[in-house]
Amino acid sequence: MPNSIVIKKSGGPEVLELQEINVGSPGPDEIKVTNHAIGLNYIDTYHRSGLYPIKLPSGIGLEAAGKIDEVGSKVTEFNKGDNIAYASIPLGAYAQQRVIPAKIAVKVPDGISHELAAALMTKGLTTNYLLSKTYKLKAGETVLFHAAAGGVGQIFAQWANSIGAKVIGTVGSDNKIKIAEENGYSHVINYTKDNFAKEVMKITNNKGVPAVFDGVGKKTFHGSLECLSTRGMMISFGNASGPLDPVNVPKEIQPKGLYLIRPSIGQYFTNRKELQAGADQIFDKVKFGKIRIKISKKYKLVDAKDAHADLEARKLIGPAILIP
Ligand SMILES: NC(=O)c1ccc[n+]([C@@H]2O[C@H](COP(=O)([O-])OP(=O)(O)OC[C@H]3O[C@@H](n4cnc5c(N)ncnc54)[C@H](OP(=O)(O)O)[C@@H]3O)[C@@H](O)[C@H]2O)c1
Repeated sequence: MPNSIVIKKSGGPEVLELQEINVGSPGPDEIKVTNHAIGLNYIDTYHRSGLYPIKLPSGIGLEAAGKIDEVGSKVTEFNKGDNIAYASIPLGAYAQQRVIPAKIAVKVPDGISHELAAALMTKGLTTNYLLSKTYKLKAGETVLFHAAAGGVGQIFAQWANSIGAKVIGTVGSDNKIKIAEENGYSHVINYTKDNFAKEVMKITNNKGVPAVFDGVGKKTFHGSLECLSTRGMMISFGNASGPLDPVNVPKEIQPKGLYLIRPSIGQYFTNRKELQAGADQIFDKVKFGKIRIKISKKYKLVDAKDAHADLEARKLIGPAILIP
């Protein structure tokens, strides 16, 4: 029987358990997939730790790429043998084989490997909606992105550069500065050493930036607001350093008339058509050399505990995957 990672209680990486599972057959609107590569995402740690509560016991993981083994009786858009990828609930992507709703899958074109697709889907879709839908980033603008050498961070600056925009990045250690620069950041600040808000004001001649993309959360939120120009947009899309404190609207939002948004992927790709279009834009960026993806580390599925521990210890520099 195929293996899958399950969690029976919230906690540290040690709660990730490898188990054999009985996959069964797909229902009418489902497909059965053999995963060839699984995406590792920071959100997986929130599901595991209980920061984002889930019903237990549960599978874990949102993202994988693989081949279809069987399609349900009402599925028309896919066939057995198709290469697909997905990045969505229901949880359970940390598995060798599973059944998923057909509506969460996209076709993966020739030239994009399963490993690349698994490294790209969540991080690429996130980048896609953040800079083309949440904030319509324009050529000539300069914005700020936190955790610039991370999984989403590496793709974000390359994509922003491809439309003629510049990105100031922050990183947590000096060894990540070069990596962020190689991925297209125009300025890189080590926010564990320097006051990033002051640095951003220096770089922008005290104008501030029109948008901040903040996936770090607790540690960076207030400083991020300081970096914004009048009517700027604070895009808080994650909490790697912990959940946010309450916002003091009269003190922090009102003086500059700021916008504040807390977006998620699912709000921007609401059906299969939107999802496939969003994914195709990412695959094209890769195929046409606008984005280069370097998988930073590959773990065996059985070593998912190590993958989570490394991710939370800020050891991973860029996208990582699990191999089932
Ligand atoms: N809302 C959405 O739709 C959506 C979708 C995908 C991802 N996200 C969010 O985007 C962020 C990036 O995701 P990712 O999967 O690409 O992860 P990642 O950036 O590869 O890893 C998280 C990074 O956060 C930084 N960080 C700062 N303080 C930290 C702390 N106290 N503990 C751990 N890390 C800390 C670390 O970089 P430094 O060492 O450089 O500080 C770390 O490498 C996450 O917050 C994730 O939840 C949101």
